[in-house]
Amino acid sequence: MIKAVHNASRRTFLRSLSIFGGLFIAKHSAAALEGDRQHAESFSVVAGPYLQTNFGNEMCIQWITNADAHSWVMYGSDPEDLHLKATGNPELGLLPLGQIHRVTLRNLVPGKTYYYRVVSKEVLDFQPYKLSYGDTLSSDVYQFVNQDVAKSKVSFIVLNDLHEKSGAIERMLALDAGKTRDFVFFNGDMFDYQVDEPQLLAGLLQPISKAFASNVPLHYVRGNHETRGVFARSIAKYFKHIGYTAFTLGPARFIVLDTGEDKVDSHPVYGEVVDFDGYREEQAQWFAQEMQQPEFTKAAFRVVLMHIPPFYSEDEHGSVHCATLFNPLFNTAQVDLVLSGHTHVHKIHAPNPEIHRYPIIIGGGPQDGERTLLRVDISQEQLDVEVLNDSGKKISEYRIDRH
Ligand SMILES: [Fe+2]
Repeated sequence: MIKAVHNASRRTFLRSLSIFGGLFIAKHSAAALEGDRQHAESFSVVAGPYLQTNFGNEMCIQWITNADAHSWVMYGSDPEDLHLKATGNPELGLLPLGQIHRVTLRNLVPGKTYYYRVVSKEVLDFQPYKLSYGDTLSSDVYQFVNQDVAKSKVSFIVLNDLHEKSGAIERMLALDAGKTRDFVFFNGDMFDYQVDEPQLLAGLLQPISKAFASNVPLHYVRGNHETRGVFARSIAKYFKHIGYTAFTLGPARFIVLDTGEDKVDSHPVYGEVVDFDGYREEQAQWFAQEMQQPEFTKAAFRVVLMHIPPFYSEDEHGSVHCATLFNPLFNTAQVDLVLSGHTHVHKIHAPNPEIHRYPIIIGGGPQDGERTLLRVDISQEQLDVEVLNDSGKKISEYRIDRH
């Protein structure tokens, strides 16, 4: 939508910037965001920037504004000299305009720290031969490390099944404050269902941007609840990856599977508009290829992240289908570890030679006392998982030695 002309004062939008990521976040509750869309007082960034990457010397930066804009990123390895400029990917020669901004930095130098700011120039009016701009927002300077995929160790945390519990994401992330992580993984069911953009912003993008995501990348895979609701068809625009993918970092190859819904596709609640059987089968075919790639076979550790575990959840169709499709492949491929959620009860299931030859660690949630934070550290020789409860107490741990 191209908004009608409004003339925000310079002072007003500078004030927005000065609290960028601070009070600003609190101000933009779901209700306030809706107000912004309809009666914008000033052009502003309403969420982000937040980082996503599959590593490999690329970094995807996204942020959301409350009006259409032309956007770009200024960056460099010296915080005083952000002389490099990157825009969103052009399509058919046209640079993107809109409210959801995505810029990918490429050809980064392994191991180097980069500094960046995001810039958005409001589009006030778009005539065939005249584009009129309003204010230009320029964010604070943030930084990230372009991780060397050949690094010797990798460290990350996993949260799952918070189900929009008020304040839970902030409290769980606070348990890991001050620690250095390569990425943060959200293993599904962060929401009950998807309603609209204000819900996505207030429930995830704003708190994570404030806590870490402007400086440390996130990974997010859908649980069965992210597939529900009218806005489920729109959330992919906000993420570089929200479905299945794979990436290498340090000694590990990571496989991310999108396990879809738990009920049969023909269940009346889905209204005939889902095909998760087909989607899971597509992923099984993809994984059968992936497990033959050198990035997979040569990795010291092979870690699968999937919301519905291949075993130990209820016997609903989605769970059984995951076991049927993926478990034989995991056994053949010598997967070292599966990290899941969905059951709402934390449990460590050691390998069972008769069924699954790999351990399955399930994170808990969403109620107080049931939520977990998984800390995973992987070196060339061993993989360690520590599980904290929502009070920050270590409640279990698991070590895997390299085969
Ligand atoms: Fe679930």
